[in-house]
Amino acid sequence: MRIGILGAGNMADALGTPWARAGHEVLVGGRDAGRAAALAARMGSGVRSGTLAEAAAFGETVLIAVHAEAAVEVLAAVGAGEGALRGRTLIDCTNAVVPGSFLLAAPMAERVAAAAPGAHVVKAFNLCHVDVWRLTPPVFDGVPLGVPLCGDDPGALADVTALIRDLGCAPLPGGGLARAGLLEATAAFLIGLWLGEGADARSAVPPLSHSRD
Ligand SMILES: NC(=O)c1ccc[n+]([C@@H]2O[C@H](COP(=O)([O-])OP(=O)(O)OC[C@H]3O[C@@H](n4cnc5c(N)ncnc54)[C@H](OP(=O)(O)O)[C@@H]3O)[C@@H](O)[C@H]2O)c1
Repeated sequence: MRIGILGAGNMADALGTPWARAGHEVLVGGRDAGRAAALAARMGSGVRSGTLAEAAAFGETVLIAVHAEAAVEVLAAVGAGEGALRGRTLIDCTNAVVPGSFLLAAPMAERVAAAAPGAHVVKAFNLCHVDVWRLTPPVFDGVPLGVPLCGDDPGALADVTALIRDLGCAPLPGGGLARAGLLEATAAFLIGLWLGEGADARSAVPPLSHSRD
């Protein structure tokens, strides 16, 4: 798969590095050419760097990995509003969580979809801290991390399912993009438990055998 990454920060690194290792072609796009080039060099041989627009043009699958407040602006800058990402898989990992209150500042997936008409948006990878994505693989107590994904296009969901498996994780189909807001709210709630309360949120979720009557 050709993967273009918008942003040259931590999530670009944590997700792009194992995807490159799994054999995908990766191009990291940043607003700072030097930072994008340095990250690409660290990510491994074969990883390329370029501008944000070059990453958008390169990717059959595009990951938007910038701060939530910048996502719409970055999509506009790469021509997504004019259809530059039409027909592509667009992965949204952003979290617009208000520091301190752990409320959602904005529902991101629908804003990303509105800013990229025709793109097949899939919400994924927003639930865990970047250091979790850096684990090789993210497995806890012998169980691969489950990664919820929400999207409407079967082809895009298949792409992201494959990319989740490439991390050594287990895809958890979470329904259509209309449910992405629930996933974002879940992230905000968990972050509040982890950072606000220092609580182990895992203890709140029963096994499947105890999830119904
Ligand atoms: N970190 C986590 O634990 C985590 C986990 C799950 C999801 N996420 C989400 O993933 C996204 C990226 O997070 P991150 O941790 O990778 O952040 P990061 O390390 O701070 O990197 C953010 C990237 O966005 C770029 N950027 C910021 N504003 C921009 C703008 N106006 N135009 C162009 N580029 C801009 C930055 O460019 P410069 O390098 O030039 O500053 C940087 O490359 C966020 O939406 C976050 O909510 C993060």
